[in-house]
Amino acid sequence: MKIAVVHGPNLRLLGRREPNVYGSATLEEVNRELKALALELGVELDFFQSNHEGEILDYLESASNWAGGILINPAGLTHTSVSLRDALAGIGVPTVEVHLSNPVAREEYRHLSFVAPVAVGTVAGFGKNSYLFGLRGLVGHLKTPIG
Ligand code: DQA
Repeated sequence: MKIAVVHGPNLRLLGRREPNVYGSATLEEVNRELKALALELGVELDFFQSNHEGEILDYLESASNWAGGILINPAGLTHTSVSLRDALAGIGVPTVEVHLSNPVAREEYRHLSFVAPVAVGTVAGFGKNSYLFGLRGLVGHLKTPIG
């Protein structure tokens, strides 16, 4: 089974971007840990990062042809993008939303997620572990949807 891992805008700055909020791990380190977990879980990952909303939408559309699931940190698009919400709803591939920080414990403009209502679930607030917990949750869901 193949899973698409999508990192939204600014996440390539991880490691040096507000480390007090997002931690000190780089995106490469996060991806390396995800790859190791994927091996353990018996799934294959494809990684994509973009600062451009349209590129993310195009990637999701093409991923719908081969991905069994999507693990996404939509970053700032979480709180702004109806188009991202529509793309995820439109392709209908089971999706787990992850965040390094806990957006609902932060500024009010981060409290709304356009993605959450079209996701299987959301993991937030555990730093890079959010991605690892999210991948476990997604694979578990794909294997046994009702737990
Ligand atoms: C984030 C939270 C968002 O509010 C923010 O815009 C990000 C990162 C997180 O992983 O905590 O870019 O998605």
